[in-house]
Amino acid sequence: MNAEESVELEQLMFVEEPMDGDDPRVHPAWLPPEAFRSLGARRVLLHGEGLLVDTVLNEVSRACARYGGRVWHSPSWDVDVDLVLALRDAGELPNPSVEAARAAGEAALVELGDGGTLGDEGFVLARAGDVTAVLADAPAGLLYGLFHVVRLCAAAFDPARPPERHRPALRRRMLNHWDNVAVHPVMGQVERGYAGGSIFWQDGRPRGDLARVREYGRLLASCGVNAISVNNVNVARTEALLLTERLGDVAEIADALRPYGIRVHLSVSFAAPVLLGGLATADPLDEAVRAWWAATTRRVYDRIPDFGGYLVKADSEGQPGPFTYGRDHADGANLLAEALAPHGGVVHWRAFVYNHHQDWRDRSTDRARAAYDHFAPLDGRFRTNVVVQVKFGPVDFQTREPVSPVLAAMPATRLAVELQVTQEYTGQQRHVCHLGPWWSEVLGFAPWGPGGRTIADVVTGESAAGGGMVAVANVGDDLFWTGHPLAQANLYTFGRLAWDPRRDPTAILDEWITLTFPPSATADADLVRRTLHEIMDDSWRTYERYTAPLGVGFMVNPGDHYGPGVDGYEYTRWGTYHFADRDGVGVDRSRASGTGFAGQYPPYWAQVYESPETCPDELLLFFHHVPYGHVLHSGSTVIQHIYDTHFAGVEEVTAMRRKWQTLTGMIDPSVYERVAERLDEQVRCATEWRDQINTYFFRKSGVPDERGRDIY
Ligand code: GCU
Repeated sequence: MNAEESVELEQLMFVEEPMDGDDPRVHPAWLPPEAFRSLGARRVLLHGEGLLVDTVLNEVSRACARYGGRVWHSPSWDVDVDLVLALRDAGELPNPSVEAARAAGEAALVELGDGGTLGDEGFVLARAGDVTAVLADAPAGLLYGLFHVVRLCAAAFDPARPPERHRPALRRRMLNHWDNVAVHPVMGQVERGYAGGSIFWQDGRPRGDLARVREYGRLLASCGVNAISVNNVNVARTEALLLTERLGDVAEIADALRPYGIRVHLSVSFAAPVLLGGLATADPLDEAVRAWWAATTRRVYDRIPDFGGYLVKADSEGQPGPFTYGRDHADGANLLAEALAPHGGVVHWRAFVYNHHQDWRDRSTDRARAAYDHFAPLDGRFRTNVVVQVKFGPVDFQTREPVSPVLAAMPATRLAVELQVTQEYTGQQRHVCHLGPWWSEVLGFAPWGPGGRTIADVVTGESAAGGGMVAVANVGDDLFWTGHPLAQANLYTFGRLAWDPRRDPTAILDEWITLTFPPSATADADLVRRTLHEIMDDSWRTYERYTAPLGVGFMVNPGDHYGPGVDGYEYTRWGTYHFADRDGVGVDRSRASGTGFAGQYPPYWAQVYESPETCPDELLLFFHHVPYGHVLHSGSTVIQHIYDTHFAGVEEVTAMRRKWQTLTGMIDPSVYERVAERLDEQVRCATEWRDQINTYFFRKSGVPDERGRDIY
């Protein structure tokens, strides 16, 4: 190496920031510097050019500066390295051992099949001699490959490691921020946000903390997310302006996230031509409206060339939509799709459409039916750059619901499933509720019957052309990002499941634990890992046990949706009722005697759900109104099940708190304290749930607890 090259090398090794600058200003979540120890102690060669390659270089340089490794970029030097990260078309590498590793990667690719392409985001990892090679066709692949090496720690350098190829199953892995630009008088800065203010917006203006936005992008890229929308689906006046005069604010966020391979999308108001364009109508078939959207969208792309597209909540909970003009949702979605198509953009059109002014006396209207009734008849009418975004369940992100039948009803439409990482109905980030197992259950559901295609298959689509996975985000300006530090795992898990919806959520949680609490920085790594699994693995089922029983849903406090409110929604206009009386509880959604919702499923499940005898216990009250003495498949009666699960749920939460206490002194005290506080609240709130639900049903039914426990 000549003198000039070595100066260049020094510059690369010691990037701008001093060592202390490497320490995150907020909790590092699953990317603490320690997680980079194994990588940072290596000699690393990076081969390729591009914005995202620079990001990889920056990541590796920071790690090496901290842990004593070295990094070279697109060199002509003959150096010995432990790891090479290379774009496949980046030209020859002179060093024979590096070339051998690259050849091993290429050979592995041929062996692993299908023509050897890795696509825009895939990578292959292979070993030859003492060198690990990560190869990609495109810079994003190298970035994902780098984070894979970080996850693997020392295992990435295990001589016996067989080659592996990774490509995301889903093209778009997206988070929707329900962040308001202006503080909403009821919903606040972030609608259904449980982690403080927005990381993007504050009091009507951009928050201006782009360093934090970049940090966020880094976290998202490391778990595989590649798209976000930056404002609430409920678009008020200030937020509507992001599309036009405040587009610069969106462009700044896009600039901050671009180095991490994340595209920015925008929630827009369907009424924008009227609100912003001064037109008399927003009718999707009106020529002037079409021209307005085309011109406006062109200006968006002039400013943000890689803009992702629009997200729309239309004719839903007061948002404007095509119904105003006697048009349907295909007309509405296609209008925006037409404007986005020349630029490669996509419109995510939400299927969350129902009558939110229902009269509780009206038993003929069933909110669960609504999305299917509105959307299934439109199958085949949406343009190819429309993704119909369907909430995973037919009602609203409940702790337990059947999977939405819409996902099985639109074979000629690109469908995305929408999950909720923010824990609106699952404990609001005050309760530990690890949602991975629930999402896996949804993704693994086979709507045409066991053994058939699954929801994961539907959203993947043929040749990965499906609509992908979307989730409502759970971060805010909180020190720990998510309020409850353990809720970080839900965000991480969403990204990893969106990369591969078939993965085991417990294995994903294990990854998160290893990254967040690196064994090398933990006094008793086994204890920490075991305890976190014991607390988190089954926490969603625990939450289910002490809240609304057997799939009946809601029973929450109106408005904030936190804590028990058994009859909170019973006499409201929202269509979320449980119909408990002295004889029984549940909603009859059978075809024979109820709302007919069960008939929206393909025949296998339509039949299973139709009868209380065959309906799975956990969904019994979603589909049927049954007497308290009805015997479940478990052998218990409905009423005894309610008592037993509610007592058990509180015991489990109390045990969680005890287990957490064994970690005193083992982990970062600020994390310890925050979780400890929240567990106290979880015990309090779970106890309230138990006592209110048990008392309510005891008073309704008059049936005592077989085991004579305290019911009030
Ligand atoms: C829920 C939530 C609302 C949100 C809506 C939506 O109903 O409570 O705050 O706007 O979902 O998904 O659009």
